[in-house]
Amino acid sequence: MKICVIGTGYVGLTTGAVLADLGHELYCVDKNKLIIEKLIEGEIPIYEPGLKELIVRNKKRGLLHFSTDIQRVIKECPILYITVGTPTKEDGSQNLTAINEVIDTLVQTITSHKTIIIKSTVLPGTNEWIHQTLIEKGIDSRMFDVVSNPEFLREGNAVFDMMNPDKIVVGGKSPQSIKIIQTLYEKLQAPYIITSLTGAEMIKYANNALLATKISFINEIARICDAYNVEVTHIAKALGTDNRIGPYFLNAGLGYGGSCFPKDIRALEYAAKRRNVNPEMLRAVQNVNDSQIDLYIDKLTNQLTNLDGKKITVWGLAFKPDTDDIRESRSLLLIEKLLERGTEVHAYDPIVNSFEPAITIHHDMYEAIKGADALIIATEWNQFKTVDWKKVNELMKGNILVDGRNIIDPKVVRKHQLQYIGVARQ
Ligand code: UDX
Repeated sequence: MKICVIGTGYVGLTTGAVLADLGHELYCVDKNKLIIEKLIEGEIPIYEPGLKELIVRNKKRGLLHFSTDIQRVIKECPILYITVGTPTKEDGSQNLTAINEVIDTLVQTITSHKTIIIKSTVLPGTNEWIHQTLIEKGIDSRMFDVVSNPEFLREGNAVFDMMNPDKIVVGGKSPQSIKIIQTLYEKLQAPYIITSLTGAEMIKYANNALLATKISFINEIARICDAYNVEVTHIAKALGTDNRIGPYFLNAGLGYGGSCFPKDIRALEYAAKRRNVNPEMLRAVQNVNDSQIDLYIDKLTNQLTNLDGKKITVWGLAFKPDTDDIRESRSLLLIEKLLERGTEVHAYDPIVNSFEPAITIHHDMYEAIKGADALIIATEWNQFKTVDWKKVNELMKGNILVDGRNIIDPKVVRKHQLQYIGVARQ
C-alpha cells in the first residue's frame, strides 16, 4: 500500500522506516527542506539505535522515499499518517499550527479517498475537530476517514517498540478505516484496543500520566524512606513482584523529563480544567517531580555548606540513556540551579556535546571530574554503572558523589572513600 507520512520528526521517521520494513511503500514528507535533503543523502537528524540501518536498508529496497513535494505525494497516496509536532504551551494548551497547515494542504489537494491517520499527540477532542474542520472547509465526508492511532514508543527503543507494541490503539468512526489499520499492521503481534477518536486520544494521555504517577509515587515513598533510614530499592523490588503493580517505572531519582511526560501531564491537566474537572492527582505528580531536584541540591548544600565557587561535574545531559535528546532534561534544570548558586559546572555525556546554558563539556568522563568538589550522576547511561571509583577519588578534589538515578551501590563507592549522597539509599 502507498503510504505518506507527513512530518519527519521522531515518530514520523520511525513510523516511515518501520512500515517500509513491514513491506509497504513509504513516502515521508516534511516542509523542512534541509531535513529532507539530509535524509535523501542518508543523514539521520536524530540519534536512535537501529533507525539509521532500517532507513538505509529500506531505501535500498526501494520502499522508503523522502520528498518535499507534499501535495504530489498526498495526491498519490490513499493513506496519510500525520506525525507533525504539537508543542504544549506553558498553560497546557497546544500549538496546532502544524496540524492546521496540514489541514489546509489536504483541503487543496484531496481528489480521491484518504485515510488520515493521526499519530501526533493531541488533546482530547482534537481528532473530532479535525474531522469537522475538513468538512467545514469543503471536503465531502465520503472522501476521507480520520483515524486516531497514538504511538507509545520510547526514545532509545523506538524501533523495537514500534515493531513489538504492547497494544495497538485505534480510534475511528467507520469499521472500514479500522480495518485498514489492521491490514497495515497485520505482521505485528499485539492486541487491538478499538475505541472512539477521543477515546484513543485519552488512552495516550492516561498511559503517560500513569507512568509519570508511578515515578512521582516512588519518589515520594523515597522521601519517607529517607526519614526512616530505609532502602528504597528494596521497596521498589517488593512492589514490582506484585503483578497488579508491575516492576517498571519504580526507579526513584531526579524524576522524569523528556519531550513527552512533562508536556503531556500539563496538557492533560489543561484538558481536565477546560471541562471543569479538578485534576488533583496530576497536580500532585507534577509538584513532586518539580521539587525533586531541590531535594538533591539541598543534600549537596548540606555537605558542601556553600555551592558558590565550587566545581561540580554532571555526568549525563540527555533526558535518559540512548538518546541525544535534552528536551526538559533533568540535567538542564539541575545545571540551571547550580549556576544560579555560583557553581562552576563541568559535564560529560556519551552523546550530547552542546548545551545551553554554556558550561564546560568534556569528551572524557574522567577528564570532566579533575579537581571537582562533587560529582552528580544525572542520567542512567550504562557506562556510569561500571566506573573505576579508585580513579574517581584520585582525580576529584572533593569526595562527594550524588547518585541522581540510584544506579550505584553505596557500599562500593564508600570502600573508595567517596561520600555517597542519594535519596533513601543505605
Ligand atoms: C515516554 C513513554 O514511556 C512512551 O510510551 C511515550 O510514547 C513517550 O513518553 P520517553 O519519553 O521516551 O517515553 O521516556 P521514558 O523511558 O518513558 O522515560 C521518561 C522519563 O522518566 C526519563 O526522564 C526517565 O529517566 C524517567 N524515569 C523512568 C524515572 O525517573 N524512573 C523510572 O522508573 C522510569
